[in-house]
Amino acid sequence: MTLFDVYPLNNITITSAKGSYVWDQDGVQYLDMYGGHAVISIGHTHPHWVKRIEDQLEKIAFYSNSVVIPIQKELAAKLGRLSGKEDYQLFLCNSGAEANENALKLASFYNGRKKIIAFKKSFHGRTSLAVAATDNPAIVAPVNETDHVIFLPFNDEAALKACFAKMGKEISSVIIEGIQGVGGINIANDSFLELIRTLCDEHGAVYIADSVQCGYGRSGKFFAHDFAGVNADIYTMAKGMGNGFPVAGILIAPKIQPKHGMLGTTFGGNQLACAAALAVLEVMEEEKLIENAKVNGEYLIEKLKAVEGLKNVRGRGLMIGFDLSDELKELKKKLLFDFKVFTGEAKPNVIRLLPSLAISRKQIDEFLFSLGEAIAELREKA
Ligand SMILES: Cc1ncc(COP(=O)(O)O)c(C=O)c1O
Repeated sequence: MTLFDVYPLNNITITSAKGSYVWDQDGVQYLDMYGGHAVISIGHTHPHWVKRIEDQLEKIAFYSNSVVIPIQKELAAKLGRLSGKEDYQLFLCNSGAEANENALKLASFYNGRKKIIAFKKSFHGRTSLAVAATDNPAIVAPVNETDHVIFLPFNDEAALKACFAKMGKEISSVIIEGIQGVGGINIANDSFLELIRTLCDEHGAVYIADSVQCGYGRSGKFFAHDFAGVNADIYTMAKGMGNGFPVAGILIAPKIQPKHGMLGTTFGGNQLACAAALAVLEVMEEEKLIENAKVNGEYLIEKLKAVEGLKNVRGRGLMIGFDLSDELKELKKKLLFDFKVFTGEAKPNVIRLLPSLAISRKQIDEFLFSLGEAIAELREKA
């Protein structure tokens, strides 16, 4: 049997990892400024995370949501405290797309409506409704096409107001990333998020904060949406939540009431996933990783702004992007193959940095040194 060939691969096999480094099968070390696609929050194979998963594995890995699972309540309490959303309710699932799918569905159950407002350059996942709310026709199959989703320009307050004025009674939800990731590191303006809050309140719509990539401390606050100082009705989370163990969830405001059977999943909230998620929060708290993301993120952004050839350096915390001029278009490849540094990208010319929240100042300096050398070599060739 062959693998279904959907991923354009770098010809590298990673066999071990620790903190912000990974190693290939020949023992070559790479600095991970990509965090395995924004997933590695507390650092690869953190010893507390490994131990908590091992200990749980010895007891029980899985039993279905037909019985009481106390570790789910433990996770909800800790998550409520660290995120500052203690009065919210937690529903656990398995991936970012599933979290958004559940959020959009729950909003529609809540207000009985069908229309969704999403934004240009958004990415919300690949399942049916999540992909329909994603601004990329290339990944929307004919069966996923729907006229329920309205795409508006990002950060365009006038367009949002006009849309609500025209069809406010039909809008079920507004879904927005606090910082667009796949779209190229675009920060939602605080005033735009405030306006979403106001308009949703006025018209009975649900404000969904897609925090799958920008959440879980990455921005220097627990949720990037928190910068606006208003609460969303639903927060969706995945990536950093398990530090690589598949676990996801949604935080649901108290006004949205549950009913038995309304949502459900076989694997969501299993004991092993909850142990991994708890370990992540414990390390985040113990090692003050949100503060680390803020401080080291500011440092990195500042330094990047001084690097010649990088344009429009932007981001919050450790979710950072910059544009590349034509002469530097091979920078990502050069960093990976010649300098052994993983970075992310966004089409057509954006480099995305999404390292572990535990990255050290020394590792950031190491990255900046490699970046400087790589740019110099590319310029010499140009
Ligand atoms: C903002 C955002 N939402 C949703 C998703 C989908 O998450 P998953 O790949 O876990 O389904 C992603 C993945 O990149 C994302 O960046």
